[in-house]
This record gives sequence, structure tokens and C-alpha cells, in this order.
Amino acid sequence: MPNLIAPTFAAVDLDAIAAFEGRVALLIGADGKLDAGARRVNRLTKGAIARVVEAGKLEDAKAGKIITLNYPAGMAATALDIICLERRPDALDARKAGAALGKALDKGAALLLAGSNAKPAQIVLGAAMRAYEFTPHKSDAEVKARSLTVMCAKPEEAEPEARAFLAVAEGAHMTRDLTNEPANVLTTTEFAIRLKEMESLGLVVEVLEEAELERLGMRTLLSVGQGSDSPSKVVVMHWNGGEKGVKPLALIGKGVVFDTGGISLKPAAGMEDMTMDMGGAGVVSGVMRTLALRGAKANVVGLVGLVENMPSSNATRPGDVIKSMKGDTVEVINTDAEGRLVLCDVMWYAQERFAPVGMIDLATLTGAIVVGLGHENAGVFSNDDALCSAFLNAAKAEGEGAWRMPLGQAYDDLLKSRIADMKNIGGRAAGSVTAAQFLQRFVKDGTPWIHLDIAGVASVKSETTLAPVGATGWGVMSLSRLVQDLYEH
Ligand code: BES
Ligand code: MN
Ligand code: ZN
Repeated sequence: MPNLIAPTFAAVDLDAIAAFEGRVALLIGADGKLDAGARRVNRLTKGAIARVVEAGKLEDAKAGKIITLNYPAGMAATALDIICLERRPDALDARKAGAALGKALDKGAALLLAGSNAKPAQIVLGAAMRAYEFTPHKSDAEVKARSLTVMCAKPEEAEPEARAFLAVAEGAHMTRDLTNEPANVLTTTEFAIRLKEMESLGLVVEVLEEAELERLGMRTLLSVGQGSDSPSKVVVMHWNGGEKGVKPLALIGKGVVFDTGGISLKPAAGMEDMTMDMGGAGVVSGVMRTLALRGAKANVVGLVGLVENMPSSNATRPGDVIKSMKGDTVEVINTDAEGRLVLCDVMWYAQERFAPVGMIDLATLTGAIVVGLGHENAGVFSNDDALCSAFLNAAKAEGEGAWRMPLGQAYDDLLKSRIADMKNIGGRAAGSVTAAQFLQRFVKDGTPWIHLDIAGVASVKSETTLAPVGATGWGVMSLSRLVQDLYEH
């Protein structure tokens, strides 16, 4: 992953600062007191740092912002970055400060003077997350050979901690790469190839092809992909880091590599955004990568349903009735409500095969969740208060927005069909809830389940704290933490 910065940690060496060629970043608490590194820089620059503090400008270096002095006299540095951060920051503030640096990083070397700051590894995580760029299709993109040296009080403690954090950043980068990739490149076949490559990390990866899906009776999933030349696939990723015989957590992702809407064709304006309709599968893939990289002591299985929703003479029509793997029949009222048709078969398969201790599905499922919650929070639906609050706590700790939504019989009633067991849409009202209600019909009694509707958070049009415009990787940090909180002892 060329995008990921690989930091080295070293003890503070004040005498190396003057000659460092590249960016030099330093941290100052809100009280304006300078640590040894900042004092050295201040002396070399004949008081430039003190002048920033005395001018009351530290405000401009807080909460994700940064003050940059370019080509400072008295040093070999190309730029001096001043970041306002307390010596004992909370983790999210430390990441935010790191993100400001990550955004500023350009090609070449950088030196962070972290001194005795308590959270150097969190700062590095923020920098690594925010330094992401998606450039494979830019013909003029330079390969950015970036290096980051962190001078801090306890490099031997910071280094292993940062290594575990960077496993999370690398997983999130993978999610972003997949989610940003256009649909002519990330076909169902290419997606499966990229997942198969993760076997090198110790995951076991199975690719189920159409004939097998047919044999299993996954007709609702196949009905979504049947209008496309790209073959539908289900990929199963096993991470067996826990005790043998312990049932896994199942993560399930919607992987619609492109959603035209099918015969219920979407309007042209904005349709290009539907390259991200595999975002749920992207998160599942990224989490599996993270778990493998950090050697998680838990059993987790990730399943993604990979299809393309296209109109054609053999595409599913509105009005068609399809039998799911579970055996329930679905009247397809709108072929654009396809995600639930993919997920319901994969969810059923996961429960039949693995009897998981819990099941979490992620999907860019409804436009209605974007209307309801915008780009700040994913919609959280669950049949299990304990699992749900564990997830909400994990999301809060990681700074990923998540908001619980209701489920209930009255919403389920909206799915009644005249001719089949259910319709695939409920109507205009509560579109995200009826979508979740549809999925819940495929959750067995006794399976703790969470559905995450990530349509608003998977990809954004203005930058967030830890991500540039485009795919965010929302969910990788929270789910990695949830696995750690609940299943690793
Ligand atoms: N993939 C879309 C949902 C979506 C919308 C994702 C915006 C990301 C951003 C989904 O398949 C869809 O088309 N949903 C329909 C459902 C409707 C037909 C009941 C929608 O939300 O309009
Ligand atoms: Mn759709
Ligand atoms: Zn879709």
C-alpha cells in the first residue's frame, strides 16, 4: 500500500533538528509553553515560534488546523508545522492533530517532534488516515515517497502501539481504494481477485461462483446480477485467530459494484456515484484485512455478495417473483431496491453455515438514510440491545458517527404482498426502516444482529476529519474495536 505512511520512532535528538531536510512539525499545548524540541526550533528560527504564541495565533493550530511557516530561516527544513495539542490529549484529539499533519504531508521526509506527548501513536494514526489519496487513474501522479520520523520520549513503547494502529489504517485504506474504484475496473471478478490476494495475510478466502450460488438457491442475489455480463459471486473470508470451535462473528457486506437501478433505472444525474454501492463489502474487506494484520485473537467470517445491477433483456422486471435461499418469496416492485435482495441470501447462508455468535451487515442501502441522518451518522438497526450498545460505544470511541433507528411490526406490515410472501419495498414512508425490516425477516431467532445503513457515510463530497473527499472507510475502526472489545480476551 504505497499510500500508507510508514513511521519510524526515535528518541528526541535536538541536534538533528537544524539539519533535517523536509517538514518539521512540533506540538504546543494551549498554554503556549514550549518543550525542548520547540525551544530548539524557536532558537534556530530566532524566536519565530514564540512570536506565533505571543501573537495569540495558537487558536489557528487547534482542532485539526495547523500553522505552517514555509522555508524557515535558520533551519534546513522546507516547512515548519505548528500544531496545538495538549501533552495528555484524548485519543480523538491526538488523531485530529495528526490528521492536520497528514493532510500537509507532501513527497519527501517529515519529522514530528512529539517530545513527551502521551499519544504519539494516535497522532501517527490520524496522520496515516488523512494522508490517503486515490491516484491510480491520475497519469501525472507522482509516487510520493513519504517518510515520517517521530521523535518522542518512549519510542520503544510508541512503535508497537503504532504498528497495531496502522493495521487499522491499512484496512481503512483498502476499504477506500475499493470504494473509490470505478466500476469498469472493480468488476465482480476483479473484486474477488483482490480479496483472494489477502490469503497472503493468513486469511482463508473462498469464491463461490454462479453455479454454486444457483445450487444453494440464492435466487434473490442472482436475480440482481442477471442483467449484467459480470458474473455474480459471493466471497467468504475466514479469519480464525480465536479458539478452535468457537463460533465466529459474521460480517456481511453489500457489494453492488454498480447500481444503475436495473429496469427501474435511476435518473442520469449523480448516477456515477453508484460506483460506491459496494461500500458495505468494502468495509467488510477492510476489517478482515485489519484483523489479519493485527493478528486478532478472534474468529470472524466476512461474506460479501458481489453483483452488478444492470438493465438488459434478461434483467429482473418489476413484478417478478423470486424465491430466496430461505424459501420465502419476494415480489420485486422496484429493481432499484436491490441491496436487500443481495443481503438476504448472504445473511441466510451465513447463519445456515456458521451459526454465528452475532451478525453485522453493512450496506449503502437507502437514499432515505441520507435524508434522515445526512453524512454524519450511519443508521444502526438491531434486534439485540447488548450487541447494539457495544457497537455504539465502539463507534463513539472511534469518532465514527452512528445513530440507532427503530424497528417494529407496523413497519414490517408495510412489506405485505398480494401475491408473494413480501414485497421488496414498503413505500415512501420510513424507507430505511422498511429496508431494515426486510432484512430482519432473514435473521433467525436467537441471532444477535446489527444492520448498518452506510449510504450517507461511505463516501462524502467534502472532507472529514480523517478522510479527504471520496470514500471514508467508515466502520473499519469501529468494527475492529468491537471485535477487540467483545471477542478478544
Ligand atoms: N444504492 C442505493 C442507495 C443509495 C442511495 C446509496 C444514495 C448511496 C447513496 C439503493 O440500492 C437504492 O437504490 N435504494 C433505493 C430504494 C428505493 C427504490 C426503495 C432508494 O434509496 O431510492
Ligand atoms: Mn438501488
Ligand atoms: Zn444499491
